[in-house]
Amino acid sequence: MNIKLFGKTKNDDAVLLFELHNKNGMRVGVMNYGATVVKIMVPDKNGKIQDIALGYDYFDDYLNDPVYFGCIVGRYGNRIAKGRFSLNGKEYKLATNNGENHLHGGKEGFNKKLWEVIESESVIIESITFAYNSPDGEEGYPGNMRLEVTYIVTEDNELRIDYRATTDKLTVLNPTNHTYFNLTGSFDKSVLNHKLQMDAGKFTPTDAGSIPTGEIADVAGTPMDFQKEKALGEDIKKDFDQLKYADGYDHNFVFNNFDGQIKKRATLSDPDSGRVMEMFTDQPGVQLYTGNFLEGTKNGKGEITYKKHTGVCLETQHFPDSPNKENFPSVILKPDEEYRQTTIYKFSVK
Ligand code: BGC
Repeated sequence: MNIKLFGKTKNDDAVLLFELHNKNGMRVGVMNYGATVVKIMVPDKNGKIQDIALGYDYFDDYLNDPVYFGCIVGRYGNRIAKGRFSLNGKEYKLATNNGENHLHGGKEGFNKKLWEVIESESVIIESITFAYNSPDGEEGYPGNMRLEVTYIVTEDNELRIDYRATTDKLTVLNPTNHTYFNLTGSFDKSVLNHKLQMDAGKFTPTDAGSIPTGEIADVAGTPMDFQKEKALGEDIKKDFDQLKYADGYDHNFVFNNFDGQIKKRATLSDPDSGRVMEMFTDQPGVQLYTGNFLEGTKNGKGEITYKKHTGVCLETQHFPDSPNKENFPSVILKPDEEYRQTTIYKFSVK
């Protein structure tokens, strides 16, 4: 593992960039600010190793980043309607930072925090653990909650992300990783030619503000159907309200036969570079977000200004607004429980 100084926070604290390697030449850069994935270097079909994760070359650009490049989102990935929910009859009011709604943990989410670094000794696999203690009341959430996130690069070209959390009061939690992938290896290309297949027969339709209506709808016969491999761009412009609300895909897909076990749930591939990314998770859903609001994001890697659809996120998660939807799987964490999540992105070529 290589470790280097990447920058300084506004409080002058050191931000370190850890580069995890494996023997095949795969390299993943992660930093303790936001527990963020800064780069993912993987080979294409000709063995050319390139970066497939959007982000910035210089740390200071992460301080003001509005699009959540590569970070851990918390406490709650995606939206909670009007920033309100009740637990045990007590109403909680969260920060609102997306119109009238709460998005990705609030005004200063976990992506804008410096995490504690817990280095591991293993010489067999390279891994690093980051921890963040979120105080009771932060952004309106109850309970002192500690989240640990471990990034591991395996010899099978996997980036494995393990999450563990505990709380001292009843709370809600739904962390995710917000990496934008572009498997072409060139950030001047769009991801709309990428092919996606997902083990998701249903999705959660939203209102115009991207809050789920509560319905769990079939994807069959709609542009939301990725059960068979399909290019991201194939149906994205179809005359379909859900796609118009979000100006593309920005929806939670519901995996078939959810039982909390790690399963292969999605495969993303780029026909030109031959890169393939399989996604395994124990979560009930994923936010497929086709970078609809990236247009004009400046200071990208190699001085690029990112455009709409330069990247695609596959954010494994519980469903948006679950604290207000009784029919969605629970996101409640109790003081005597441990939260766990594992998500694996596995890279290969074809
Ligand atoms: C959300 C988008 C949001 C984006 C922030 C995604 O997870 O679903 O609506 O704009 O994150 O960059």
